[in-house]
Amino acid sequence: MIDFKIKDSNLEKEIIENKNLIEQAHDSLWNKKGIGNEMLGWLDFPDNFNLNEVNEINEKVKKIKNLGIDTLLVIGIGGSYLGSKAAIDFLKGSLNIDEKIYFAGINVSDSYIKQLENKLKNKNWAICVISKSGTTLEPAISFRYFKNLLLKKVGETKLKDLIVVVTDKEKGILKNLADIKGYQTFSIPDDIGGRFSVLTAVGLFPMSFAGIDILKFLEGTKKARKEFSNNDIKNNLAYKYALGRFLLFSKRKKVLEIFTTYDPDFMMLSEWLKQLFAESEGKNNKGIFPTSVTYSRDLHSLGQFIQDGNKVFFETTLFLLEDKKVFLNNDVENLDKLNYLNKKSFAEINRVILNSVIESHANNAKIPNFLIFINERNEETLGYLLFFFFISVSISGYLLRINPFDQPGVEIYKKNMFTSLGKIS
Ligand code: PA5
Repeated sequence: MIDFKIKDSNLEKEIIENKNLIEQAHDSLWNKKGIGNEMLGWLDFPDNFNLNEVNEINEKVKKIKNLGIDTLLVIGIGGSYLGSKAAIDFLKGSLNIDEKIYFAGINVSDSYIKQLENKLKNKNWAICVISKSGTTLEPAISFRYFKNLLLKKVGETKLKDLIVVVTDKEKGILKNLADIKGYQTFSIPDDIGGRFSVLTAVGLFPMSFAGIDILKFLEGTKKARKEFSNNDIKNNLAYKYALGRFLLFSKRKKVLEIFTTYDPDFMMLSEWLKQLFAESEGKNNKGIFPTSVTYSRDLHSLGQFIQDGNKVFFETTLFLLEDKKVFLNNDVENLDKLNYLNKKSFAEINRVILNSVIESHANNAKIPNFLIFINERNEETLGYLLFFFFISVSISGYLLRINPFDQPGVEIYKKNMFTSLGKIS
């Protein structure tokens, strides 16, 4: 499903020489002995998810669509947003889906809310609000605002059928509100943290609404789970990647990882990766800071720094071996002097750019580069890919000797904000 290569003269050899480092991390993860093991619900999820719940998600989507709804407003932030947005853009195309699924709760921008309100004015829309805690301010205030708009549009009786709540199974303000109002709810297991929750209704409900086959997606995670539980690093790409990153960090002082993609449909996947790695690794003054670029756009801006600037980073490239759909034609006048590209597809040109960039960055500038080639754009491959990163980041966290599954730093601004806003608890 994916091909993995390392572009660096020595790293592959160093990984094999240091493979004993993986043993303890492997044991901590798979035998659930490591720190944070109470949050490992995602690890077995591909093998033991509740099929009835998956069917219920698809059923609810069908019911809503049968009511004439063609647009979904998804409200959530962080782990309650990034996974579904990444999956939808990757599988459906970031431009295709624009007018069918909107996202709110990711900011408190007056202008954004107003624009969204205008967009929704002439649409038949429903809401899916997602918050594990049920208390996150950004989605909570967006939910209050858009729920009232929808109420004005359709009235109390119809509103009930047009709101779906994804939250804790029994506690929290949102769960309480949903129960009182009779909104359909789907739950997020206690032992699955936000950034791992794309496997649950958090990711699955919006994905299903977008027409994604969520069972196939889960099948991909199952396949990955099996492959990446192998303790032999030579046959475990996720372990190679995790150990390679760790060695670059600990031995070569590479403190920054650039997720490099060549397609705007991957932009949100990079955002999802940034949350996964930042929240998992960035603690106790340790970790590799994740950032991202989208080429060709950023070759014309950040490209200068990457080629010539301070080499504190390495790249992890994700590239889709895309079918050729769009071709350049011959032009009799040839005023733009582009006939040398006659009959070339955009996909082929993108591939040439990729190879030229690898040559310039990895060979000329000696920037280590992990290359992940994705063979097909489908549900199974996506599930497989996301699970590859789940395993990599967990092993990576254990190599760094931190808890990869908590995120204490995220709470600090919330405390200050709620105090300033005068929240009464
Ligand atoms: O990883 C995390 O836990 C956070 O990024 C959360 O996903 C984010 O803060 C949203 O939290 P909640 O789903 O409780 O609203």
